[in-house]
Amino acid sequence: MRYLCAPIQGFTDYVWRRAHASLFGGVERYYSPFLRIERGEMRKRDLADVNPVNNAGLTLVPQIIGCPPEQAQRLVLALRDMGYSEVDINMGCPYPPMALHHKGSGLIPHPAEVEALFSCLAGIDGVSYSIKMRLGWDEPRQWREIVPLFDILRPTQVTIHPRVGKQQYKGDLVMDEMDAAVELIRYPLVYNGDVTSLDAAVAIERRYPSLSAIMIGRGLVQNPAMLCPDKATPAAYRALHDEIYADYEARMNGGDKQLVIKMKALWEMYLPFAPKKQLKAVKKASNLDRYNAAVSALFAEMEGGLIGNEE
Ligand SMILES: Cc1cc2nc3c(=O)[nH]c(=O)nc-3n(C[C@H](O)[C@H](O)[C@H](O)COP(=O)(O)O)c2cc1C
Repeated sequence: MRYLCAPIQGFTDYVWRRAHASLFGGVERYYSPFLRIERGEMRKRDLADVNPVNNAGLTLVPQIIGCPPEQAQRLVLALRDMGYSEVDINMGCPYPPMALHHKGSGLIPHPAEVEALFSCLAGIDGVSYSIKMRLGWDEPRQWREIVPLFDILRPTQVTIHPRVGKQQYKGDLVMDEMDAAVELIRYPLVYNGDVTSLDAAVAIERRYPSLSAIMIGRGLVQNPAMLCPDKATPAAYRALHDEIYADYEARMNGGDKQLVIKMKALWEMYLPFAPKKQLKAVKKASNLDRYNAAVSALFAEMEGGLIGNEE
């Protein structure tokens, strides 16, 4: 099976991607968190995130938010200028301020707007598209209405996270609609959602033998060795942490407080199976010295072989 790394805004930025690709791997392509126009401008940090120089050593497909055609066109042209020939269109973002403006998953119930977007993007030379979508915004059959529009764009793949936007990232997966999508969508299909182990990936592959790939997000942030169990060592987990730390430290230029905030954000998802007591100490660290001491204690405990055995 081909495995793709899903974008997780705030986690899978270029620093994480580079560290992941060099220390773990197992992923064929990485997808960037979505680029967007904010107050009429492209955000500098979005552009830095997809800058090819910052993504050396991995294959990146940049993603834009599904949005009004003129905004999407600007984003795609900027990406084409950077040398990208494939762009992923986000029709999955569940964040209400986006969705209520018919962006991300909020675009799905509006076929006329989807048609306008696809027609505009299909007219740009030299770029092909993939689509990453939910089943709908508030009803899991909404995707069906836009399937005929795929022919305008002829996507290289369609990734489905079988939930509706209103569910955010939890609640039951609507697998009978995924079953229907596998039957009805005539473009290479990718499954995404709640795959947090190799066994879970194999179960999806068995259920859908025709899949083109499986895309994994949170599972890889939680355990970057998920796809390469032979690399699941405390030393490798520490090395990924240290690469991220070093990069943020250099960029923050002495801003210790910011560095602690940024690193603690990683631990909101990283290594949930780490020893509980030490993990708690990392998350509570109030300054850089305490943070560093807590992280060292955590990895020492893991090295001691107590992974997940703490009460
Ligand atoms: C904090 C967070 C940020 C996310 N950011 C993006 C994003 O920028 N673009 C996108 O397509 N999906 C984004 N997602 C959704 C994931 O890519 C993925 O579709 C979803 O988490 C389900 O897959 P998983 O269970 O493997 O994580 C985000 C998810 C989370 C939890």
